[in-house]
Amino acid sequence: MLEDIKKLKKNFLILELKNVCKKFQGEDIISDITFSINNGEFISILGPSGCGKTTLLRLIGGFETPDLGDIYIKKTRVNDVTPSNRKVNTVFQNYALFPHMNVYENIAFGLRVEGEDDAYIDKEVKKIAEKVGLDKLLLRMPNQLSGGQKQRVAIARAVIKKPHILLLDEPLSALDKKLRQKMQIELKQLQKSLGITFILVTHDQEEALSVADKVIVMGDGQIEQIGTPRDVYESPTNLFVAQFVGEINVFDAEVLAVKKDQAELLIEDEIVYIIKNKKGYKAKEKLKVLFRPEDLRTETIKDSKTLNNVLIGKVEDTTYKGATLDSTVILKNGKVIKVSEFFDEDDAYFDYKIGENVTISWIEGWEVILKDEK
Ligand SMILES: Nc1ncnc2c1ncn2[C@@H]1O[C@H](COP(=O)(O)OP(=O)(O)OP(=O)(O)O)[C@@H](O)[C@H]1O
Ligand SMILES: [Mg+2]
Repeated sequence: MLEDIKKLKKNFLILELKNVCKKFQGEDIISDITFSINNGEFISILGPSGCGKTTLLRLIGGFETPDLGDIYIKKTRVNDVTPSNRKVNTVFQNYALFPHMNVYENIAFGLRVEGEDDAYIDKEVKKIAEKVGLDKLLLRMPNQLSGGQKQRVAIARAVIKKPHILLLDEPLSALDKKLRQKMQIELKQLQKSLGITFILVTHDQEEALSVADKVIVMGDGQIEQIGTPRDVYESPTNLFVAQFVGEINVFDAEVLAVKKDQAELLIEDEIVYIIKNKKGYKAKEKLKVLFRPEDLRTETIKDSKTLNNVLIGKVEDTTYKGATLDSTVILKNGKVIKVSEFFDEDDAYFDYKIGENVTISWIEGWEVILKDEK
């Protein structure tokens, strides 16, 4: 019961954008964006460079005003509210710590500006420092901190005034891969322990999926899909999302015939594949059948007589990755296919050479089918 009440309290809408548009020099940069976010969620905004991610954050933070549409924070319309009165804070890529102040003073800065008294500041700084694991580093200067520690100072400084939302614009993009992965985990833990809504902008799909409860995929000023990391990876709603969120193979297909609740597809003009026709495809309709590299299987061709209904391709390249063997296979029609298979040393199937012909099959039902948008 108490848990339910807590949940209810947590699940109120913290941020809503309704039909928000923004132009720069007459050009649509944000076109009619609508979405809402629950309190306490970790959201990532994923999209290619120049698609409008920073502009969207600046609109939420109050550094830009929408040309059309409304922004609500905790149900209050904030279009005309200044950044400092929105209870939204931003952490930038370089953290922008004050180099001449120690960790304590960096964290305390916002409260000092507000003119809070020393006792209150001391209590709050120590409370937040403990939460983010900086309590033993309060006297260090920024240049004596690791990247992860600097990030924690930047976040502690940004959240000490208890904002409703913390915006993070590519805070990890300058770091090498290993450190970035470590910091992603830290960021996620920090968000959970603080309980504040985080909105993280990134163009790194792995990062967007691994940190967030929900991912907003953006393309050219619009939202292409909003969903859990699994939703956007496993059930992309269009080709843009499928191709932007990870690697994917796109097979061309045509509906040959529809029988009862099944549809017969001709894939790459070569093989017939029967699916459950849940979406009511019609004969002659053109489709795209999508498979992630890890949902495909290759096999050396041992006995060509038994080959039935599988695609055949030539191995162009293989990369041993420890846990997986990743191959590039070229189909007869020239299409390049990527396959990633779990590697088992005893498995003779992987014994193929570059230039050899292999069969390509898949795990039935794991495909994503989209209507051909052309
Ligand atoms: N103040 C401005 N005046 C004119 N054009 C702008 C302004 N700010 C951004 N733009 C343009 O708006 C588009 C979106 O920019 P934005 O910075 O939001 O992209 P982004 O998705 O954050 O890209 P990146 O991943 O490279 O940071 C770009 O074409 C950019 O040139
Ligand atoms: Mg940007």
